[in-house]
Amino acid sequence: LKIIQVTDTHLAAPGARLFGLDPLARLDACIDDINRNHADVDLVVVSGDLANNGERAAYVALKESLARLRPPVRLMLGNHDDRDLFLDVFDGVVAEGGYVQASVDLRHGRLLLLDTLDAGQIAGRLCASRLAWLERRLAEAGDTPVYVFMHHPPFRLHLPDLDRVGLANADEFKAVLLRHGNVRHIFAGHVHRIATGAWCGASFSTLRGTNHQSALALVDDGPTPVSLEPPVYAIAVIDDDVVVHFREFLDRSAQAR
Ligand SMILES: [Fe+2]
Ligand SMILES: [Fe+2]
Repeated sequence: LKIIQVTDTHLAAPGARLFGLDPLARLDACIDDINRNHADVDLVVVSGDLANNGERAAYVALKESLARLRPPVRLMLGNHDDRDLFLDVFDGVVAEGGYVQASVDLRHGRLLLLDTLDAGQIAGRLCASRLAWLERRLAEAGDTPVYVFMHHPPFRLHLPDLDRVGLANADEFKAVLLRHGNVRHIFAGHVHRIATGAWCGASFSTLRGTNHQSALALVDDGPTPVSLEPPVYAIAVIDDDVVVHFREFLDRSAQAR
């Protein structure tokens, strides 16, 4: 089982630039690289902040670009997204219980794609209805390993400015996870940085966005600066083990030895 995670595309209207970069051109380069090198993956998950400001034009551009992507794709929402506008443009997406959350059963496990968007807030939240949905899906999975994708990390990264705007009710999420004990890995977005670790009995990974990044700010010293470290997507290879690779898709330096 191979799954690609792409995150934080932050698209605006075509031609718009963000931090001096063209987010749509970056996404298109990412799609080209996946099609060229990893078209065999089972699924591509785009884990939120699809648009930079929830613009309809961004969702329309995203839909057009994704039409070229060869593997199947699932989309998630982040704090920069607008749920209603997204669902209006992506009219084929089923909103389970009104949220852009999904349970996908593949060989080697169940994927749960969560909707942590709390409209008007930078931090994320899973309301009672979404926590109940999660509880049901974990209970159904039983001994099947579960892989959770969520925009907002529920774990601390010891990056104070980013930790303040993670999943606001991480304790409630944690209680649900501990009741079932079948979540094996958590894939998060939102932080625009690569980090890996373990939390609540599961391994986790976070990812750079396709456009701009967050500088490494371990000391609490005001707003995290934006950085232009190269964009990345993740390739998770899952069987009895879980391995996550990070592909800098603009890099062309590979050469014969
Ligand atoms: Fe983001
Ligand atoms: Fe975000």
